Amino acid sequence: MSHRINKYKAKSKRNFDKIAKDYFNTCDGKYSRLMYAGIIEKISQFSFDSVLDVGCGPGEMLSMIIDGNESIQACGIDFSAKMLEKATERLKDKVQLILGDADCLPWPDNYFDLVICNLSFHHFPEPLKVLMEMQRVLKPKGKLIIADPWWSDTKRFIINLCLKSPLNLEGDVKIYSEREFKVLLEQSNFISIEWEKVIDKYCIVSAIAKK
Ligand SMILES: C[S@@+](CC[C@H](N)C(=O)[O-])C[C@H]1O[C@@H](n2cnc3c(N)ncnc32)[C@H](O)[C@@H]1O
Repeated sequence: MSHRINKYKAKSKRNFDKIAKDYFNTCDGKYSRLMYAGIIEKISQFSFDSVLDVGCGPGEMLSMIIDGNESIQACGIDFSAKMLEKATERLKDKVQLILGDADCLPWPDNYFDLVICNLSFHHFPEPLKVLMEMQRVLKPKGKLIIADPWWSDTKRFIINLCLKSPLNLEGDVKIYSEREFKVLLEQSNFISIEWEKVIDKYCIVSAIAKK
């Protein structure tokens, strides 16, 4: 693994291990929470029996999804041990939680009806690798929902420059434009790609797995 990739991942892990205890009082936690309702609204538009949350953090999304619907097979993966501890406290054994990396998902091919990823995607140094893994574990016609920060072109340019600085200690890698999201999803073989700007500085992207 290259030095650059390792560096981003180490920063993300360190940052999320550090803030896990008080996550919902941090900017990350507050911003993540802002997106939950939008994702729940999106996924309530179709039926699914299995879901994977990539970068599940403290497990709040999974908790909302299985609430009143415990027949759903729910799984989460996160590489911050402390965040995963929080998820385990919250979800006990109702959900399969794995300490691991988004770019190497430990599930078989064609396993999930739905994959979600809330505010974690911009932390992945190899986004295409992660999308290909998501494509692999999704069943044919399975659904992918990603929510991530969004900024207009000029702001995004400046923010992305700042993220490359050694002073960025949080491990954010890149904020994507609508076009960049669409290209990445096409390259990883997703179809029916829809991109939507929500609550000012976020976007929700949905796509269907093609096999
Ligand atoms: C901003 S938090 C969002 C957590 C959760 N999705 C939520 O909505 O509350 C980002 C999460 O992504 C995880 N993460 C970042 N890069 C990862 C990677 N390569 N593999 C697994 N988890 C990762 C972090 O550890 C962190 O818990």
